[in-house]
Amino acid sequence: MNQKKIAGEKAAEYIKDGMVVGLGTGSTARYMVDKVGEMVKNGLKIQGVPTSKATEEQARSLGIPLLDINDVDHIDLDIDGVDEIDGDFNATKGGGGALFREKVVASLAKEVIWIMDESKLVDKLGAFPLPIEILPYGYQIVFKKMEEYGFNPKMRMKDGELFVTDNGNYIVDLHLGVPADIEDVKAKVNGIVGVLETGQFLKMCKRIIVGTDEGVKVIEAK
Ligand code: A5P
Repeated sequence: MNQKKIAGEKAAEYIKDGMVVGLGTGSTARYMVDKVGEMVKNGLKIQGVPTSKATEEQARSLGIPLLDINDVDHIDLDIDGVDEIDGDFNATKGGGGALFREKVVASLAKEVIWIMDESKLVDKLGAFPLPIEILPYGYQIVFKKMEEYGFNPKMRMKDGELFVTDNGNYIVDLHLGVPADIEDVKAKVNGIVGVLETGQFLKMCKRIIVGTDEGVKVIEAK
C-alpha cells in the first residue's frame, strides 16, 4: 500500500467548494495536490496557496487557481506533510527546505491537517534533524552560536554548494538527538539574530491523517 498516497488523497476529501486551501510541499503533499487537480477538473471551485515554488509549479500544471500570498486574507484549510510528529502533535517540518512558506501558510489557516506515512509518528522528537532557515548575511555567526548551544548544527548542502531556499536563504539542520528539549531549542534558536524561521510546528493542527498498511487513519488532537 502506498501510505503517502492514501493519506494525501484522504486529506483532499476535507476540501469543500469555495475554500482557500494551503497546498503543502513534499512527496506526500504531492499526492494531495494531484488529487485536488483532479477535483478541480471535475468542477471543484477553490483557490490554492502554494507553500513552495515546486508546489506552485505542480498546481499550475494541474490548472488549480492560485492566490498570491499578499492577496490572502484567510486560509480555510492547510494540508501539508511532516518529517516527524509526537503524540501531542508537535511536528518537525522542512526536510524539503520549504519551512518558512509552510509556516506562513499554516499560521494563517483556520484548520491545519498534517498528512504522513506511519514512519513519521514518534514518541519524542529529535531523530530527524530540525531545519532552521537563516539569512546568508553573517550565517557563520549564527552557525557558531548554534554550536555553542550544543545543537550539533550542519549547513545543508546540495551538489557541493550551500542549499538555497525559495527565499534565497540557507538551512541549518540541528542534529539534536532523542529526546530533543523542544522548548529550550525554541527559546534559544528564536533568540539568535539571523534566524528567519524554525521547522518547529508545535501543536498547530487538530487532526493528522496517517497512511498505514491497514488503510488510512484519521487521528484527532487529544
Ligand atoms: C518540506 O519542506 C517539508 O516540510 C515536507 O512537508 C516534509 O519534509 C514531508 O515530506 P514528505 O512528505 O516528502 O515526507
